[in-house]
Amino acid sequence: MFDFTSVDLLDAFTSELRLCKVTDGEHVVVLSEPGSRGDYVAAAFGAAKSLGARVISATVPGGSPAPMPSTHTGAGPGLSSVLDDTAAQDLLKSADLVIDLTQEGFIHAPVQQEILKAGTRIIFVCDAPDVLIRNLPREGDKDLVVREAELLKKSQVMRVTSAAGTDLTVQLDGSKPEFQTGFADDPGRWDHWPSTMVLCWPEISDGRILLAEGDILLPFKEYVRSPVTLHVAGGHIGKVEGGAEARMLETFFEDADDQWARSLSHMGWGLMRSADWFATAMYGKGDLMGMDARAFAGNFLWSTGPHPVLGRESYAHLDIAMRGCTVTVDGTEVVSGGALTER
Ligand SMILES: [Fe+2]
Repeated sequence: MFDFTSVDLLDAFTSELRLCKVTDGEHVVVLSEPGSRGDYVAAAFGAAKSLGARVISATVPGGSPAPMPSTHTGAGPGLSSVLDDTAAQDLLKSADLVIDLTQEGFIHAPVQQEILKAGTRIIFVCDAPDVLIRNLPREGDKDLVVREAELLKKSQVMRVTSAAGTDLTVQLDGSKPEFQTGFADDPGRWDHWPSTMVLCWPEISDGRILLAEGDILLPFKEYVRSPVTLHVAGGHIGKVEGGAEARMLETFFEDADDQWARSLSHMGWGLMRSADWFATAMYGKGDLMGMDARAFAGNFLWSTGPHPVLGRESYAHLDIAMRGCTVTVDGTEVVSGGALTER
């Protein structure tokens, strides 16, 4: 049997690596684990080689330190085999670009910061093939997310409201705004294909979050069926009220046995206009990480658990994507009723 799927993906991976500014003679490491998609490893390897890079495919043992199953959750705890092996880390630090094809990536593993400090660029790829292709980034996407990150940097307060009843006030001081643009072009940059979003890491937020029917709970990859009210004080979640999903979230917080499980983490809004809200409904859970939901243009994305800016290490990471919110940053409306504003 011939492997046509990797060849079919070669154009997309080559376009992606061009955006990552892979140049002749650069060192590219394709990082995988036994559970990674073989067609992605082959396509990444072939694309890097076709651009003149010196490419190494490194497959390390699977197994993560996180207590939850590695099912493309997005928690990014890294692989134990890399976290415990300085030779593997040195290989990644010596690369110009790492194409991370592991199932969870390393975004919330502190070792990733060490690798980035060496100047290595990392692009993480985890979603299904047509999700990657439909959301293939364009160079100009970066201007937009940089603009939004700059707005957050110079602002003091973000306010999120919705017709469903959300009313959250977020203090932006010290919240280290950043962006994802779907490609890793600058030295020391991590990014995720696909993604187009802006986010920050606030410490203090107060008010209430009302999840409406159709909002998306990640990593469960489930739509909210029954409204949920979460009461937030000082950046922590108190009472959770509602039906089945409220009970599910409350149980998750309890079972996590994690001091940061009820603490808010990153929050921001999506700018990926090609994203499909129904992708979560159309794929098997093992096929997706869920970047269509996370980066959907005009969503409000918030999360719980790990908070690198405050030094909180946690595996209890939820990402929750909401439609229909209005997001205002120091009086500038950036999202109006779930749609990006024209500015
Ligand atoms: Fe997250």
